[in-house]
Amino acid sequence: MEVKAFRWDGEKLWLLDQRKLPELEEWVALEDHLQTAQAIRDMMVRGAPAIGCVASYGFLMGVRKGEDPKVVYEVLRNTRPTAYNLFYALDRMMEAYEKGEDLEKVAKDIELEDYLANKKIGELGNQLIPNNARILTHCNTGALATAGFGTALGVIRQAHYSGKSIFVWVDETRPYLQGSRLTAWELLKEGIPHKIITDSTAGFLMKKGMIDCVIVGADRITRKGDVANKIGTYALSVLAKVHGIPFYVVAPSSTIDHSIESGEDIPIEERSEEEVKRFKDCKLAPEGSPALHLAFDITPAENITAIITEKGIWKPT
Ligand code: MRU
Repeated sequence: MEVKAFRWDGEKLWLLDQRKLPELEEWVALEDHLQTAQAIRDMMVRGAPAIGCVASYGFLMGVRKGEDPKVVYEVLRNTRPTAYNLFYALDRMMEAYEKGEDLEKVAKDIELEDYLANKKIGELGNQLIPNNARILTHCNTGALATAGFGTALGVIRQAHYSGKSIFVWVDETRPYLQGSRLTAWELLKEGIPHKIITDSTAGFLMKKGMIDCVIVGADRITRKGDVANKIGTYALSVLAKVHGIPFYVVAPSSTIDHSIESGEDIPIEERSEEEVKRFKDCKLAPEGSPALHLAFDITPAENITAIITEKGIWKPT
């Protein structure tokens, strides 16, 4: 069965707890907007499009419980600041509430539209992938990060389904390890050949001619094509430029924030230093040393070869 990050049962929202992967596939039921907000903040679910879909169902559950929709909206908005899909989805839900529309239908529409956008993106993006491509990807942009299929990982999936022989270098993605824990898990389930590397390995592989293209997702894209994505993406874009390697960004159009021109105006989430200094029960740094944990960085449009959305292939510069 296709991997899913969440399932709506008509009353409750079920999440696959991504903090426990790959060891445990544990599903958790959420019953209101407060539990939903907590799950997004704690990264039980993550990935910009998945966060947007989950927040829509959270909004629906909160309003069904008789809570003030404005409060529900604010609680869910204040979970993670960078992923634009969260705001896109909540604005749609709020507007639907104000117009007296069927909120459950709108939440389901948001989920379905994301899934269909990913399928379309997969087909478009696949045109850019040559046979025998060795692709580097960062973070997790797969079914776990979306309503299904995935964005950057959706392109990789589609290339594999179309019969191309491809190989994927999976950036581990410190500190939350979305690459090694989640992307590798999805690729393994699909039987797509891959190898995990530490984040600092990519540059040397490029130098040695072992990477043909880089494909990443996005948390927010500005009007001119600057992109916020998982920390480490900017460094990869610079390395790709220096080595003359195509650098593709893949996202649904719901990731584009039309109100912002420059990436400098995108709020960057700063998370707890504890997530850098320990992994689960394992201490990785001395207690007394402070750490900085920026969850995202900005890649300028000029470092991007093309941005692929369900609406087409866009060359920002
Ligand atoms: O902190 P995360 O795991 O939510 O960050 C996820 C990413 O940076 C993804 O690349 C992005 O959201 C696109 S997911 C299709």
